[in-house]
Amino acid sequence: RLPIDVDVSAMKPGQQIAIVWRGNPVFITRRTPAALAALKQPALAPRLRDAASSAHQQPPYAANWHRSLSPEYGVVVGVCTHLGCVPGYMPDASASIPIENWPGGYACPCHGSKFDLAGRVFKGAPAPYNLPVPPHHMMAPGTLRVG
Ligand code: FES
Repeated sequence: RLPIDVDVSAMKPGQQIAIVWRGNPVFITRRTPAALAALKQPALAPRLRDAASSAHQQPPYAANWHRSLSPEYGVVVGVCTHLGCVPGYMPDASASIPIENWPGGYACPCHGSKFDLAGRVFKGAPAPYNLPVPPHHMMAPGTLRVG
């Protein structure tokens, strides 16, 4: 149950790393400026299934449009909120089945739920809630603590 410190200093923009925290996968992404711009597109808002993102889905400091402490780093628990499969990293939407206005992010292999790079679930698939955001903090530049 101890927190895990992750060295994110060498992460390249667009890269994801996966760790295991409390027995679950946690995905850390370094989001590109383009990916952050995509998250802010007004066209996404009506496509979000869990737009209000209930309070238990993220800590208070991640109750924002990028659902994280810092916009640059995304941190989500990689467990689909439908039936618990592990979504795959698919930052490029064009590589997948198109969903209207889905900018890419995570796609669940079991029943097709799609999440963006903030872990927000899109309408048209069975997952009811956004991917949970675990507690996370920057302990020093380049060191992200999960837990
Ligand atoms: Fe992910 Fe069903 S478990 S869509």
